[in-house]
Amino acid sequence: MQDIKILEGQLAVKGYLDIAIDLSLDLFDEIRKLKKEKNAVVLAHYYQESEIQDIADFVGDSLQLSQEAARTSADMIAFAGVHFMAETAKVLSPQKKVVVPDLKAGCSLSDSCPAPIFAKFKEKYPDHIVVSYVNCTAELKTLTDICCTSSNAVHIINSIPKDKGIIFAPDKNLGAYLQKVTGRKMILWDGACMVHEIFSREKITKLKIQNPEAKIIAHPECEDIVLELADYIGSTSGLLKFVQSDSAQAYIVATEVGILHQMSKVCPTKTFIPAPPNNNCACNECPHMKLNSLEKLYLSMKYELPEVTLSDRIIRDAKSSIDRMLEISAAAGLK
Ligand code: 13P
Ligand code: SF4
Repeated sequence: MQDIKILEGQLAVKGYLDIAIDLSLDLFDEIRKLKKEKNAVVLAHYYQESEIQDIADFVGDSLQLSQEAARTSADMIAFAGVHFMAETAKVLSPQKKVVVPDLKAGCSLSDSCPAPIFAKFKEKYPDHIVVSYVNCTAELKTLTDICCTSSNAVHIINSIPKDKGIIFAPDKNLGAYLQKVTGRKMILWDGACMVHEIFSREKITKLKIQNPEAKIIAHPECEDIVLELADYIGSTSGLLKFVQSDSAQAYIVATEVGILHQMSKVCPTKTFIPAPPNNNCACNECPHMKLNSLEKLYLSMKYELPEVTLSDRIIRDAKSSIDRMLEISAAAGLK
């Protein structure tokens, strides 16, 4: 117990358990043992490093991960993604323990929309329906009528009566894309994802000239000037399905590079070229997602820390917007 107290002190500062691991341990084996021992499930987003994707019980996009969190019979969910995703799992399965490899794995998009400021903003449009991209805090979800992910956003917007005004938060790029596709005018919150905003239209165009046979595929969190170049636009799972069913042999992929691991696994003979950022650093990697590591995942499962906890009020008030999203997705047969 003394140990755990010290660990909690470290956790507050660092966000993860900073404990030396015996380097001779096979972490894949250890994590497998912990899963059995603790009846735990490991959920991982496509943007996680490949080793984490390989040890996970379930790898998916934001929608699939929330569906999985709602249906799992495990006692503990080890969520390898970012904080808002683990919060969603906790809201959907409050009786389960939800642990994360690193509490500080946040999200620039989620951070761009603080709930108290949004609450004031929302007051200006009292008759509007609030649709929030699931990439937001649980607190923001309490101010939301319906959540959406990039997989179901078009269905969610289309499900809202035409005479109803819509506020869309927090991603202005996804919002602008949805306005185009659905023809609905919406009030957009001015937030964006630091990874999807950094792709360079010029460098992608240059790559396309060098690889004329490659198709450009992009996530709708990208800016409009990048989406205009795309042959296909979709969520991470949408992009993954597209490369499996499409006949091209090469793709320039405008989303976080972690997805290339699954793409290469399912299509080993195809070529996947990461879309370049507008600078020379590795900014097409999400720094938040990449805070997680196999070591931190192992420690979080072993010590059941850091744990994601939410107040009863937040769980109660955030749940209806997520449930509504899952209901609309199920009715549309989205998986
Ligand atoms: P999806 O998982 O819905 O494709 O969203 C990508 C993303 O940015 C998650 O943080
Ligand atoms: Fe947030 Fe963007 Fe990272 Fe996704 S990729 S977690 S939206 S910062």
